[in-house]
Amino acid sequence: MIRGKQVSRTKVLLVGSGAREHALADALIAGGAELYAYMQLINPGIKRIAKRFAIGKADDTVAAVKFAKDNSAEIAVIGPEAPLAAGIVDELEKAGVKCVGPARKHAQLETSKSFARELVKKYGIEGSPEFAVFTKGNIGGARVFIERLNSGSGCVIKPDGLTGGKGVKVYGEHLHSDEEAFEYCNELLEVHDAVVIEEKLEGEEFSLQTLTDGNGGFLYFPAVQDHKRAFNGDTGPNTGGVGSYSDANLLLPFLTVADIEAAKKITEKVAAAIRKELGEAYKGVMYGGFMKTARGIKLLEYNARFGDPEAMNVLPLLKTNFVEICKALVEGTLAKLNAEFEKKATVCKYVVPEGYPDNPVTGRIDVPTVEKDFIKALAYYAAVEEKDDGIYTTKSRGVAFVGISDTMAAAEKIAEEAASMVKGNVYHRKDIGTLQLVQKRVEHMRQLMTAEGGRLRPLYAPKAGPMRIAALMSGTGSNLRKILELQRQREDLFRVVMIFTDTADENACNARRIAEEHKIPYYCYDIKRYYLEKGKSDRKDMRVREEYDAETATLLKMHEIDVVALCGYMSIITKPVIGQFLTINVHPADLRIKDESGRRKYAGCIGADCVKMARTNGETEIRSTTHIVTDEVDAGQVLMVSLPVKLPPNNNCDGDDLPHRYQEKLKEEGDWLVYPETIKALAEGRFAVDEKNVIFLDGRPTPEWSEMSR
Ligand code: AMP
Ligand code: GLY
Repeated sequence: MIRGKQVSRTKVLLVGSGAREHALADALIAGGAELYAYMQLINPGIKRIAKRFAIGKADDTVAAVKFAKDNSAEIAVIGPEAPLAAGIVDELEKAGVKCVGPARKHAQLETSKSFARELVKKYGIEGSPEFAVFTKGNIGGARVFIERLNSGSGCVIKPDGLTGGKGVKVYGEHLHSDEEAFEYCNELLEVHDAVVIEEKLEGEEFSLQTLTDGNGGFLYFPAVQDHKRAFNGDTGPNTGGVGSYSDANLLLPFLTVADIEAAKKITEKVAAAIRKELGEAYKGVMYGGFMKTARGIKLLEYNARFGDPEAMNVLPLLKTNFVEICKALVEGTLAKLNAEFEKKATVCKYVVPEGYPDNPVTGRIDVPTVEKDFIKALAYYAAVEEKDDGIYTTKSRGVAFVGISDTMAAAEKIAEEAASMVKGNVYHRKDIGTLQLVQKRVEHMRQLMTAEGGRLRPLYAPKAGPMRIAALMSGTGSNLRKILELQRQREDLFRVVMIFTDTADENACNARRIAEEHKIPYYCYDIKRYYLEKGKSDRKDMRVREEYDAETATLLKMHEIDVVALCGYMSIITKPVIGQFLTINVHPADLRIKDESGRRKYAGCIGADCVKMARTNGETEIRSTTHIVTDEVDAGQVLMVSLPVKLPPNNNCDGDDLPHRYQEKLKEEGDWLVYPETIKALAEGRFAVDEKNVIFLDGRPTPEWSEMSR
């Protein structure tokens, strides 16, 4: 399946001996590598294609490094997590072998769940469930935390260390009372330093495997869904994963492009956060375990390696030479490489020993092959032993078969046919990749979204007539003009029914002119004069401001206003207005960007200063944001974010007028599109709010979901 031009034979060390490594070995050989395999067990598939192999413990870094040196390996690809946790990358790199895999300290992303969760929290990255970390020292607090979570959606208890995903217990599935959950924490603390307790999420899981070079380059593999439960119909104990599928459009049937984008964004932010936190960039695989929930994409965990079985779905789809990908990764040039995948569906089914995972029985198996049985599936050996009289299973997964075809149904058939030809004391899940099971997942997601939808209250509920808008302005009113342009096409949907200004300076303010042109009632209530009449020479006294706004509010009520739209309004707006009227604004910066303490970086910043600041902060693009107005400046919930305006690279020959030029450009390409679009969506009743004041657009939470599309 793997194409790519042959390169001079690069000597590659491959560490690991499972089916994932067998798939990696195939991809490396197809890319023209000379393969040196360091394995814990002899994988018959890898053995056949490797130039040489050595047997040793997965975490014996000394033996692995010696084997690499003896064979002058140039690059090493690390399959499993155990050698990463043992620091194999650190040792190999010391010996001059560049690695596709993270250093030990970076591998903490997988090996320590508390590290990963704390990192995501510290850097304000979205997608984390509520969680807390407990040790023997503070375990008392866990009881209250468990009770609180269990009175909601439930809790999940995770040991803070490597357990092959098997130490995780979920309330309602493995744990049935607060007491049982608390007891399990204590049990875990006998062997682990800490436990992570987190909010139980509900949704559909998917794996997004990514390669990153530590230099801003990311290569995303197609999304895959794994199956953890041992038996058909998602029953039975949890396993390392007994099968998986991916779809021909490189999405999953329950995912949208926006879902994948959200997961990618999380991965990129986590990579940036690790670099800041540890002083050095992460390189290798970042395999995110995500869950699509009714409240957006959530992060379950990261692994520092490819998934098993997920690697077997995606590696055979690569059209780009995998050795070149590995080279680009170690050289930090991944961004230049435009990796391509075959647009095919894949289904992987694992054949495992009878009794797996709890009481597996081992024995000889007959594995079908292309040559003698004409199977169409790819076959990857996992934990088997090759003896003189054939292949024997061990206590873990045996052989994986991957069907690849234009449709999932066809891919499933190919995998199923091969899996059912294995003779011996084994079983496999017949339902993975079947239309029936895939539809069950889609239906599950639909139900969750509908239930969530039922909990939401519309931000503005459409009624018989158009939504009534009051425009408050102090300047040129260019945003208002754009809103009025859209109104001309959609008078049924919304109407600006009054224009209000706080300044009598008609040289600076176009309010009267716009009102007259459009025959809209116009009010001018000069705020400077208002303060003077109250005997105040400056405009700091907030009580006066509130009195002024109370009078404004009376006017708004008179006009039966639904929404107050600020269109370049220079006064701070207070409770009497914002407490009674949904008030919105557009801000010439991306308000989603936060600093490390979670505050919006571009709040309070105006005009060209936003552009200046964005350049100082090293942003490569700018956007404008529509948001709800609250009593804290620019802190209200984000409604929509405009498409980006790319900034030119930072250099000295920009000229001083760059911020102004880009401010204008952002107005035209940002504000003028996103503000009318927001008003239209609002009038259509597409914005909603939940009990925690999270804003949803079309059933998806903002801000990370609401990027406007043209
Ligand atoms: P992990 O090793 O963190 O991926 O957890 C193993 C499995 O436990 C995941 O694949 C999920 O099925 C489940 N799980 C983990 N975290 C959560 C959570 N917060 N809510 C619901 N299920 C979870
Ligand atoms: N398929 C789950 C894992 O590789 O962790």
